[in-house]
Amino acid sequence: MDKINWSELSFGYMPTDYNVRCYFRNGKWGELEVSTSENITMHMAATCLHYGQEAFEGLKAFKGVDGKIRIFRLDENAKRMQSSCEMIMMEKFPVDMFEEAILKVVKMNKRFVPPYESGASLYIRPLLIGTGAKVGVSPADEYLFVVFVTPVGPYFKGGFQTANMVIMREFDRCAPQGTGTVKIGGNYAASLKSGEIAHQKGYSSVLYLDSKEKKYIDECGAANFFMIKGNTYATPRSNSVLPSITNKSLCQLAEDMGMTVERRKITVEELPEFEEVGACGTAAVITPIERIDDADTGKSYVFAKDGVPGKVCRKLYDALRAIQYGEAPDHYGWTTIVE
Ligand code: PLP
Ligand code: COI
Repeated sequence: MDKINWSELSFGYMPTDYNVRCYFRNGKWGELEVSTSENITMHMAATCLHYGQEAFEGLKAFKGVDGKIRIFRLDENAKRMQSSCEMIMMEKFPVDMFEEAILKVVKMNKRFVPPYESGASLYIRPLLIGTGAKVGVSPADEYLFVVFVTPVGPYFKGGFQTANMVIMREFDRCAPQGTGTVKIGGNYAASLKSGEIAHQKGYSSVLYLDSKEKKYIDECGAANFFMIKGNTYATPRSNSVLPSITNKSLCQLAEDMGMTVERRKITVEELPEFEEVGACGTAAVITPIERIDDADTGKSYVFAKDGVPGKVCRKLYDALRAIQYGEAPDHYGWTTIVE
């Protein structure tokens, strides 16, 4: 293996040694299988290719200060994949098999877990797809679960640095009663065009509003949003955002710090009242927002200066990272140690 420059990693794909797979055939899940191939072969009429029967997850493993490898909130990701499956009529992958598959793939690719000092991590990408052939629109009768890993650095360039986002009302990520609450490929396909336009204009991401009224803040294409006002941590409650496991963890940490946590509808008009705003997610960790530009009204909302994160974002970021890297006690049992 060529020497990896761990501290220079971006959020990209790098081949690793093994992936783990499991097939649903004849009405049942088979045994976990280990593969060294980066390819999948399937029928050209597979439902994942035609009708979007595809769900994925994203979680991370960290090499701790004590040299141990910790996986963050494995059970939560397993359960969320099940709710994605329910939404698009896919066969659910059992939680215990999900956990076993992830522990196995991390263990077998141990040498790719970035060292503690690098601040990088091992991204774990479970995927579940309909592989059964159908021409009429209906759920497949065969499925494939596969999980691969790849070492990653920060999702938004520059690590714990501020990013700028843009509101553009002509694009929706998902429908009001649609699939926004689950992690399926179609949501991401729907965000590609607006995402590209935002990138071309120099923004890290689009900040989507609710698709019905275009009044409330939802989230960005790959992360939830939170806002800080005094001693309050506020985050949008919506039928069209993904329930972020990072956000759920930050709500708990904020509460533990004595903050008030509000999960409620948050309007664009409220933005000037907040002192700090951040995006959060497995890939994004916490990405403090420096400025949100509203491309339709021409208004700009500024929350930070010269790339310097606000102090509450910093405190939350440090608290979360400390648990993930084994520097602080894991009071809630969020991490699973890979023996
Ligand atoms: N929202 C969307 C649309 C995402 O893709 C992600 C990433 O998983 C998140 C939010 C953050 O969720 P989590 O913290 O569980 O990674
Ligand atoms: C994650 O945060 O794990 C994500 O899945 C975001 C993105 C890479 C889709």
